Amino acid sequence: MRVDLALTTLHRSPSPNHYTGGNWKCNGTVAQIKSMVDVLNAAGPFSANSEVVIAGPAIHLAAMKKTLRPDIAVCAEDVGFKKGYGAMTGEMSAEMLVDSGIKWTLTGHSERRVGFGFPGETSEVVGIKTKNAVDAGMSVMACIGEMLADRQNGTTMKVCAEQLEAIKKALKTEDWKKVVIAYEPVWAIGTGVTATPKQAQETHADIRKWLAQNISPAVAAETRILYGGSATAANCNELYACNDINGFLVGGASLKAEFVSIINSTK
Ligand code: PGA
Repeated sequence: MRVDLALTTLHRSPSPNHYTGGNWKCNGTVAQIKSMVDVLNAAGPFSANSEVVIAGPAIHLAAMKKTLRPDIAVCAEDVGFKKGYGAMTGEMSAEMLVDSGIKWTLTGHSERRVGFGFPGETSEVVGIKTKNAVDAGMSVMACIGEMLADRQNGTTMKVCAEQLEAIKKALKTEDWKKVVIAYEPVWAIGTGVTATPKQAQETHADIRKWLAQNISPAVAAETRILYGGSATAANCNELYACNDINGFLVGGASLKAEFVSIINSTK
């Protein structure tokens, strides 16, 4: 179902309005990270209206922060379930990230939700982590999306709404200013199968409508909703032409020089 025209015409108003996120996942030796940073640093100027944020592996975040051009923000791929410092072996808290100058994190990526051989995170955990990050002063790319069976069963928005509801439960209305939603159909992630512009637009519009009905019309108008799932230089222009797509979260292609073309498609 489409959101009403007043909302859809408003949605491109926040500034910086357009957004490209990269997600390097568990990729990159020290040398490879350096060469990816070199490629991005050598790319020409990005549009002043574009925000570029790259999520990198925990061990490389400090080096990325030190070496990436200042108009690319560095993002953690996950954030601690508990706040602060202490006896939490293996965790990286939002406070610790902020102390190191990292102001963004992903939460709820499907590889953390459905796991890769380990039991994954529930929507409730994703909500708590999102709130921890916002409370520490971070901004969050909160990821949601359905599995292939959900899409085939026609329950895409039911699944997305359940994931959004858990984030809503954890956040105050004003916290949504710090949240960007990444809609990433799980069946499109890393598969080379991209959602069609029609499929993506329909779900983005449904997500915006959910925000209008469940948070507020202002939050619906201002929240950037990114598409993720096999986004490439070849398909980004037709996806970005969709009214409710405010940018991308890019995995595989963010490790290649074509990422610069994807960033530039969001001008
Ligand atoms: P992909 O990954 O672009 O390789 O499909 C997207 C993501 O996982 O964020």
